[in-house]
Amino acid sequence: MHSINYLQVAPGTGAFREQVAAPEIELVRQVEWPPQQLDTILGLEGISLSFGGVVALDNIDLTVRSGEIRAIIGPNGAGKSSLINIICGVYRANRGLVQIGSNFYRRVPTQKLAPLGIARTFQNLALFKGLSVLNNVTAGRAYKVRSSFIGQTLRLGRSRRETVDARERAMQILEFLDLTHSCDRLAGTLPYGLQKRVELARALVAGPAILLLDEPMAGMTTFEKTEMSEFIRAANRQYGTTIILIEHDIGVVMGLCDHIAVLDYGRKIADGTPEEIRADQGVIDAYLGVAPENIDGGGI
Ligand SMILES: Nc1ncnc2c1ncn2[C@@H]1O[C@H](COP(=O)(O)OP(=O)(O)O)[C@@H](O)[C@H]1O
Ligand SMILES: [Mg+2]
Repeated sequence: MHSINYLQVAPGTGAFREQVAAPEIELVRQVEWPPQQLDTILGLEGISLSFGGVVALDNIDLTVRSGEIRAIIGPNGAGKSSLINIICGVYRANRGLVQIGSNFYRRVPTQKLAPLGIARTFQNLALFKGLSVLNNVTAGRAYKVRSSFIGQTLRLGRSRRETVDARERAMQILEFLDLTHSCDRLAGTLPYGLQKRVELARALVAGPAILLLDEPMAGMTTFEKTEMSEFIRAANRQYGTTIILIEHDIGVVMGLCDHIAVLDYGRKIADGTPEEIRADQGVIDAYLGVAPENIDGGGI
C-alpha cells in the first residue's frame, strides 16, 4: 500500500487552514515515491468542467499506464482539448483531481509541467516561424538551461556547455525524426506536415516522461498521417515516452494505440483496447455511424 499525506500538514492546525485557504495550493495528496512503482503514470478522477452553461467535461475518469500510447478520440467539441488543458493546468476543473505520477492535484501548476516530465503540442501550429528549425527545437529544452542571466555573465563556461548540450540533443532529435536536412530552414517556410513534425521534435527534446499531442495529424494527407504515426510509435519505443494522443479520426488511432477513450459531448462513452472500441455498440451508434468492419484504415 502507498502511504498518503494530505497536504503534509496536520488538519486543524493554522498551517493546514492557511494552505487550504491559499488558492495557489493545489497539491492535495501524494503517494509514495518512486512513481515507477505505480502502474498509473497519469490519471483523472471525476473531472468536470463547464464554460457558462456548456458542459465541456462531465465526470471523466481516465487511467494512463506507464509506457503506453493512449488515444482520446471524439468529434469536434467533444471536450478533447479541454481535457489536455486540464492535465496541463491551463484550466481548473470544477470538480475532480488530476494524478501525475505520485501527486494528486486540483489544478496542475503549469510552471511545474516540465519538471514533472510533461511536454505537449498544440492543436494549432505554435512554432516560432521566423526562427530556424534547430532554434525552435532547442527552445524546447530551455527549461533545462538553469543558468540565470547573472550566471551566464559570471560563469560563461557552464552556460556555454548547457547551450552546446541543448544543441546536441536537438540535433539528435532532428535526426531521429528525419529533419536534419531542414535544420537551418526557417520553420515558417516548411510544408505543414513538416512543421507538425518540428513541433513533435520540440516537445521530445526535453526528454518528457509524458507527451500530450493535440491532433498532431489534423489537416495532414494520408501519407503524412502514416509517417507521423510511425514517428510517434518510434518515440514511444525508443524513449519509453508515455503518449496521450488526441485525434478525431478513429482510423488513425486503431493501429497505433494501446487504449482508446471515446468522448462525446463531454462524456466518456467508451474506454478500452482498439478491439473493444471497434466492437462497442455505443461507439458505433453515437460516434462512428458505420459498421465496425468499415472502420479499418478509413476513418469515419
Ligand atoms: N475557453 C473556452 N471558453 C468557452 N468554451 C470553451 C472553451 N474551451 C472549450 N470550450 C467549449 O467546450 C466544448 C469542448 O471543446 P474542446 O475541448 O475544444 O473540444 P474538442 O477539442 O474535442 O473539439 C465546446 O463546446 C467548446 O465550445
Ligand atoms: Mg480540440
